[in-house]
Amino acid sequence: MKSFLHNLSIPFFISILFLLLSCGGPEGEPGQERITYSLPHVLNTDHPVHKALERFAEELETRSGGTMVVKIQPGGTLGNEQELCDNVTNDADAFTKISSTILETKTDLAKVYSLPYLFRDEDHMWKVLDGEIGTELLDMAIEQNLKGICYFDAGARSFYTKKKVDSPQDLHGIKIRVQKSVMMQKLVESLGASPQQIAFSELYTALDTGVVQGAENNIPSYYTTRHYNVAPYYVFDEHVCIPDILLMSAKRWNRLNPEQQAWIMESAEVAKEFQKKLWKEKNREYMEKMEAEGVTFTYLDNKEPFVEATKSIYNEFEGTEVIEYVKRIRAVN
Ligand code: GCU
Repeated sequence: MKSFLHNLSIPFFISILFLLLSCGGPEGEPGQERITYSLPHVLNTDHPVHKALERFAEELETRSGGTMVVKIQPGGTLGNEQELCDNVTNDADAFTKISSTILETKTDLAKVYSLPYLFRDEDHMWKVLDGEIGTELLDMAIEQNLKGICYFDAGARSFYTKKKVDSPQDLHGIKIRVQKSVMMQKLVESLGASPQQIAFSELYTALDTGVVQGAENNIPSYYTTRHYNVAPYYVFDEHVCIPDILLMSAKRWNRLNPEQQAWIMESAEVAKEFQKKLWKEKNREYMEKMEAEGVTFTYLDNKEPFVEATKSIYNEFEGTEVIEYVKRIRAVN
């Protein structure tokens, strides 16, 4: 007796094959009708960086005529930033967006951006990031399968606490949450506080229950997580400006043709410029909202005590490539 399969025609198999390809698997290959990429990250959906990622996905879908689709998974539901970064290294995920300080586990060069008071101001930062140095550093972890696509503004990070802080002395002995970053740990230690590594998505509870008495971040992250409800004192010491970075698996990047690669880069450029504007607007809006809700913002006439206390962090890099980058960055006008 002939099997059921023998009764099926070749055109039938071809059409099934076509159907499967046109649906696109979770991670399709170029040449297929549609490639669907994953892009998990830890921020909330009202965060300006999430909005920029949505813009990136829209642009890419349009430019590619619907053949390149990015599925964004926000809120840290798929892991913390270290895990998300490792997943791209292992090619389990196509994309992620993380704070670039996390890349220090992949390459020492990532430590450059986590150095305290590296940039003179926002203009200086963007000149560096958009220029030759920033472009070089986008691919700092390419050996680890991490292709840098673009940076996003993550502003300046400042401390926020349960009790008012306006000098390094006020931080002495208190527990401050830090990202999974030795650099950030050292920075907090240099100010006399005790650093505690806690995942971003677990921080609200840690602040609420008193596991830590403070943390540090930019205004949009402080606002969109509602951390201000449990740590209502924010001091603009602006100790670091660590850009966010959009990363893609280099293996997958290399499998794309030049046209597809150009669509990704053009979409990222649009998203980056969109985010720069939105960032400014949202910073203003969120500060007004938080002020209305009783948050105390402290502006420092003189940041020198913070600059002085954290300066020694540069010493360990004497004679390394990190210092070469610092010199080049400082020389950018
Ligand atoms: C910033 C950054 C995030 C990061 C977070 C943190 O908000 O945009 O990528 O996770 O800081 O402190 O963990």
